[in-house]
Amino acid sequence: MNARLEDLPIRDDLRGLVPYGAPQVALPVALNVNENTHPVPQEVADDIMDAVAQALHEVNRYPDREFTELRDGFATYLGHGLTRENIWAGNGSNEVLQHLLQAFGGPGRTAFGFAPTYSMYPLISRGTGAEWVAGTRGHAFTIDPQDAASQVSDAAPDVVFLCAPNNPTGTPMGIDVIEAVYDATDGIVIVDEAYHEFAPREERSALTLLPGRERLVVSRTMSKAFAFAGARVGYLAADPAVIDALRLVRLPYHLSALTQAAATAALRHAPTMLRMVDDIVGQRDRISATLEALGYEPYESWTNFVLFGGVKDARTTWQALYDQGVLIRDVGIPGHLRVTAGTEDETSAFLDALASLDSAS
Ligand SMILES: Cc1ncc(COP(=O)(O)O)c(C=O)c1O
Repeated sequence: MNARLEDLPIRDDLRGLVPYGAPQVALPVALNVNENTHPVPQEVADDIMDAVAQALHEVNRYPDREFTELRDGFATYLGHGLTRENIWAGNGSNEVLQHLLQAFGGPGRTAFGFAPTYSMYPLISRGTGAEWVAGTRGHAFTIDPQDAASQVSDAAPDVVFLCAPNNPTGTPMGIDVIEAVYDATDGIVIVDEAYHEFAPREERSALTLLPGRERLVVSRTMSKAFAFAGARVGYLAADPAVIDALRLVRLPYHLSALTQAAATAALRHAPTMLRMVDDIVGQRDRISATLEALGYEPYESWTNFVLFGGVKDARTTWQALYDQGVLIRDVGIPGHLRVTAGTEDETSAFLDALASLDSAS
């Protein structure tokens, strides 16, 4: 009774693809998927539980299809004169990106990103039938505006992904790159700011570029800075016409009443939810400094993780850390590994375990 995938009448363009599969194992120190490892503060958790309990009383009815209160909450949080008409949300920013690709990608279309970048971009694109085209980065995974514009204009994609800052490298992306890429394409430009809250405070968000750019989309998530990965809430800001396009492809009532209640309550406490960000940034910078002292090559990071090179054999080092109860990520770049900044204790556990291996080149 155990059929193989190839035995099924599956779409030809899905044959041979590999699903997303970061290991989910219960190790004492899990720093592999860029979560916020601090729990939601108790006073916020109490308020969220009250809101969810309240929503449960009406869970026999379908939820607000337009998630109006939640969109108001995101507009207030983002600022920049945005209103609910500019806001969309989904079950994680992955779903928000999928909605975008369903509306603007699809069969016969192409999506483009500068590799290495977030591994779900090709999967989400291909899932809708779009072709994935990978561009290249320069020294230390940076992107130069002129080079970016010429790569995008050569590829002529329907959708461009700009991960700002980039996963898995942590690399900042200049506003000038976003402007140059936007001008070089007639397609939709998605700036994925999943890690924006970990960038230096004074840095400009792509939200400042939205006025007058109806093909620009800025996506965010509550999974990282807000410590809300398990609740699955992502969102975006764009021209109201883009939001109308997404209404065509979403399933009705895609955001459950419980999700809406929990996220709306969490957003009311944004400053408290975000108070661990400075601490995480401190641990991230400690990781970079210590890695360098140990002889590794950490890359500049504006996120909650650090990519580092100078690893003799990534697979062996990954396994040795695993054996010491520390889970980090082999992102498939030879000689490199990626680690999420955890609490002070988790970060120490990682650094101590790595120091004990002595395997830098
Ligand atoms: C760059 C980037 N975008 C989007 C996501 C998806 O986040 P979520 O679906 O949890 O909002 C991630 C998750 O790691 C990410 O790294």
